[in-house]
Amino acid sequence: MSAAEQTNESAQSGQISVIVMAAGAGTRMKSEKPKVMHEIGGRSLVGHVLRAAQELNPQRVVAVVRHQRDRVEEHIRSIAPGVLIADQDEIPGTGRAVQAGLEALREDGFTEGTVLVISGDTPLLTAETLSTLVESHRSGGNAVTVLTAVVPDASGYGRIIRGEGGEVLAIVEHKDATEEQRQIREFNAGVYAYDAAVLAEALPKVTTDNAQGEMYLTDVLGLARTAGGRVAAHVVEDVWQVEGANDRVQLATLGRELNRRTVERAMRAGAGVVDPATTWIDDTVTIGQDVTLLPNTQLHGTTSIADGATVGPDTTLTNVTVGEGASVIRTHGSDAQIGENATVGPFAYLRPGTTLGAKGKIGTFVETKNATIGRGSKVPHLSYVGDATIGEESNIGAASVFVNYDGENKHHTTIGSHVRMGSDNMYVAPVTVGDGAYSGAGTVIRKDVPAGALAISVAPQRNIEGWVEQNRPGTSAAQAAGSLKD
Ligand code: UD1
Ligand code: CA
Repeated sequence: MSAAEQTNESAQSGQISVIVMAAGAGTRMKSEKPKVMHEIGGRSLVGHVLRAAQELNPQRVVAVVRHQRDRVEEHIRSIAPGVLIADQDEIPGTGRAVQAGLEALREDGFTEGTVLVISGDTPLLTAETLSTLVESHRSGGNAVTVLTAVVPDASGYGRIIRGEGGEVLAIVEHKDATEEQRQIREFNAGVYAYDAAVLAEALPKVTTDNAQGEMYLTDVLGLARTAGGRVAAHVVEDVWQVEGANDRVQLATLGRELNRRTVERAMRAGAGVVDPATTWIDDTVTIGQDVTLLPNTQLHGTTSIADGATVGPDTTLTNVTVGEGASVIRTHGSDAQIGENATVGPFAYLRPGTTLGAKGKIGTFVETKNATIGRGSKVPHLSYVGDATIGEESNIGAASVFVNYDGENKHHTTIGSHVRMGSDNMYVAPVTVGDGAYSGAGTVIRKDVPAGALAISVAPQRNIEGWVEQNRPGTSAAQAAGSLKD
């Protein structure tokens, strides 16, 4: 049976395997970091591609690595543990990369069905587009289907060569193209659906006989045709989806477009965004209905904003959960939880391990870390709360510091419920304040305070009459004091 005859049969098997090419050096990034690990919208380039691939529920996904292979492998394992890793050897080119990927699939027992090949650097590609590519590949009974797009100037890309009847004949790389071929506006997006058997048969015939001395994956089209297979193109309208991030300018351009799409999705789902241009939302973030995002807000990681909450202006939240109806103004926060109808800011700094209960308050110029502040409790002004547990409906006076560090170790402070602590208190941990206790202003709490007690640590105040006139004669203070006396 020829590969072409096998096409139909193995396409029927319905299997999809995916090969993601991530072995290139990405020299145009001018970076010590591998290209596919550069990030937009909260995921690496290869992270976006792997996510789109996995949404298709393929039987297998393999990533081909070579440049900084250990670093790229570790990254891929951390974001997509089920992905197989294949090593490309020193023979360069996309054809060689896919050969390595196919070998890994074969060793894993996947030799039939559709093989989807994707470049690791096209972050806006969606699962929907991949799925329509596979559909058109299968319904056409094709040996190869290449994803293409049409742009006014396709410089740099491989061009799609079509015959008189519009049938796809071949792909010619920019560097190998004639002047006439360079006028072609339809380009190869670097995303393909192949019949597994056709691909396996064609790849060993691909040579490095071209302008770049590389094994071109694109040569498989011509080889498949020669073997009698059907070759077709699937044209995508949304050109952004097939754009590669080859340098930092393209990375930023794609990052802005991805963000535009994410912000638009949030608005269509009922979130209010006052200024989409200065609002940055990772595509890993969850946003509810009737949320208000004010200008200059950045939401990262696993952050989620519940219905009716207001965030911003000038706020950056990373892995922060914001409860329903809460308000977070001019705040920098990470790995924190903010309860329903709680208020935070302006000018608050929420560090990892902060949990604020419903209707609680973390106010102005307050820093918190590893602190649980109970329902209705307030830390309104100018304070540091670290390594602390505060009960419900308690109030911490202005300018208080939880003295958690003895120079060697961190210690915990526990404060009960319905407590009223004075301003300018120091809590020298480890220390406990019981329910309903009070403290005076300026108290240094070194000993536990029993429930219902008033803690005072300051010496009684003493006034020395006439001290200024005697010790600072002739100063404006002395004059002011003197004139007041008259
Ligand atoms: C490739 C296509 C070109 C297409 C363009 C779309 C070939 C020969 N050319 O060109 O027709 O228009 O993509 O973006 O395929 N890679 C490897 N191993 C290698 C070389 C590359 O894994 O030896 C990976 C890269 O990491 C990258 C992808 O393959 O993810 C594409 O490589 P790149 O060098 O960007 O190919 P282009 O020259 O852009
Ligand atoms: Ca590219």
